[in-house]
Amino acid sequence: MFDDQPRVAPSSEDVSLALRHCWQPVARLQDLEQGPQRAVLLGEALAVFLIESGEPAVVADRCAHRGASLSMGQVVGESIQCPYHGWEWAGEDGACTRIPSLPDQRQIPPRARVPSFPARKHWGLVWTVLEQPLGEPPDLPWFDGDTWTWGHGTPYELPVGLGVMIENFRDVAHFAFVHEATLGPLPELVEPLDIEQDGIEVTLRREMQLGDKAAKFWSSVGEARYHVIAPNFISFQMFTDAGERCLLHAARAISATQSAHYWIEGGLAEGFDDRALTEAIDYEWRIYREDLPIISAIEPPELSLDPSSDTSTLADRFTLAYRSAFAEFVTRALSFRIRG
Ligand code: FES
Ligand SMILES: [Fe+2]
Repeated sequence: MFDDQPRVAPSSEDVSLALRHCWQPVARLQDLEQGPQRAVLLGEALAVFLIESGEPAVVADRCAHRGASLSMGQVVGESIQCPYHGWEWAGEDGACTRIPSLPDQRQIPPRARVPSFPARKHWGLVWTVLEQPLGEPPDLPWFDGDTWTWGHGTPYELPVGLGVMIENFRDVAHFAFVHEATLGPLPELVEPLDIEQDGIEVTLRREMQLGDKAAKFWSSVGEARYHVIAPNFISFQMFTDAGERCLLHAARAISATQSAHYWIEGGLAEGFDDRALTEAIDYEWRIYREDLPIISAIEPPELSLDPSSDTSTLADRFTLAYRSAFAEFVTRALSFRIRG
């Protein structure tokens, strides 16, 4: 039935290695305005900050002098200053730029440096990657930040790998069971799903059926489109009578079994103003909170990429296609790693 699934599933080690080549979100720009932030990516603690010119920077969150946490420090010009003895490290390449206790800055040890990583601003987030990136951060041709009214919800962390949550987002069979309180009663039956997989991307189009509570909030919805870009991004686009609405969701692997999640709510409709956006974010957050206890208790806490490891049916075709796209990402990243 699922002949398009890979025969040999990547191991957990393969997945973690592959994710080192994936752009992942590490902070919201709005939080960086308060100062540097700490983010853990695949076990590596990072300090994320904006230098004075506004450009993002990501360096290891460990001072090369005596190991203090740089994210507890402050930005000075184009560098981050360690909170312990005030050494300064350049955002661009991690080179030591100043040691306050030295009378002559020419005495800075030439090799004094902290590891630094590429940093990109995209959709109000800073993205980074630990090793040579495979591709670019995710993008969507239809989502233009200048024309949409959009904003971030509160990021959250989960004690499961990022794939478990990305899969939940695209799992259409759970709505009737998990989201009745927010969406209203929904049919349990899942229609034959119209999915398309192209490499690491999977799309699903379906006529949206709304429970009475959701209908009150979203008015009448026609088509809904899901678009996943494996391994760590998914979007949901809804076409309502009033205009378009969307939810973008990007995840970071804290480790193989822990993840951080960022989400953007948006509207492209007359009357979809900042107040409507706040209401939409509040409503979405209520929906997410229904998922979180269930997702947090899933065993094992890492998404299996072996299609035979769980029992699946036709109603799971979309989530199985995501697993297949995730496995394809791992295969590409590992061969890129060997070639690179
Ligand atoms: S530990 Fe950072 S300056 Fe000493
Ligand atoms: Fe859900």
